[in-house]
Amino acid sequence: MMKGRVRPKGGGGWGDSEPLIAQPLGTLGLWTTNEPRHGPSGRTEDERPSPQQRLSHPTVYHDGVSVIIRRCPLFTSLPTTRYPLPTTMIVTIDGPAGTGKSTTARQLAAQLGFEYLDTGAMYRAVAAECLAQSIGPTDQRAVGQLAKSLDITFHEGRTFANGRDVTGSLRSAETTETASLIARNPDVRTAMIAAQRRMADGRDIVCEGRDQGTVAFPQAGCKFFLTADREVRAHRRQQELAAQGRHVPLETLLAEQTARDQRDANRPIAPLRPADDAISIDTTHRDIDAVVRHLEARVRERIALNTKPK
Ligand code: DC
Repeated sequence: MMKGRVRPKGGGGWGDSEPLIAQPLGTLGLWTTNEPRHGPSGRTEDERPSPQQRLSHPTVYHDGVSVIIRRCPLFTSLPTTRYPLPTTMIVTIDGPAGTGKSTTARQLAAQLGFEYLDTGAMYRAVAAECLAQSIGPTDQRAVGQLAKSLDITFHEGRTFANGRDVTGSLRSAETTETASLIARNPDVRTAMIAAQRRMADGRDIVCEGRDQGTVAFPQAGCKFFLTADREVRAHRRQQELAAQGRHVPLETLLAEQTARDQRDANRPIAPLRPADDAISIDTTHRDIDAVVRHLEARVRERIALNTKPK
């Protein structure tokens, strides 16, 4: 779910000692010391240019765009070292159900101060609406039109379809099965990906699903693909259902899981597969906390790399 934007500590401007050049430039509308920082969170003090460096290398940040002030006579003779553009970062986590993806993604987002987008919930919301409107999942045209017309939003952990709270029906067996069927529909996928890109635009965000690193955000700054043994995945699902008071035999869950895996992996559009540049992690013998720590370390390494002066 998209949650309230939480900026990590120290994510403000570059400090109180900004001043000499910053304020005059601020009055030109180019930069003010009080502007929120646009770069990926977690940049450390050491990685930022010192005030002295900034005074002699007047790269100016404004709304994510780096402007070298060549036109201002005061600066024409100064060197024009560019510091990396402050941009937002998208982290993608893909993989089949039962690998711990959702919990990992949610916790990782919280650790990083990023937002979190559960794209599976979007397909589930379309499925829930199909069921509510008695639209058969194989009616390609009707399902496609429904998906296009559906405004899916998240608020405080709840999912809304055209303003209607559908959270309660998202995890039912019927919705789960229908979601897997409608996810093959190209019109549904086009509509979902467009909505995902709109939601991620300009944000630091962890996006979780099946095609986030391959199709929705091929430019993502950090991509992960989670896997786990099929029995372990089914067992996790069994425990999840048991917690809701539903007791389903492991064999039943294994059979359903295999059918959905095959559908996900073999569909012609956006099949489930790791992106070429994704880091794959087998979660079979790891607990969630260990997985989250591992991912967080990888993301912070990437942020540090991206923010080093070039
Ligand atoms: O992750 P989940 O189980 O909540 O996903 C529900 C369904 O949506 C599942 O059948 C796979 C599909 N899905 C998809 O095709 N692409 C995504 N990015 C996310 C989910």
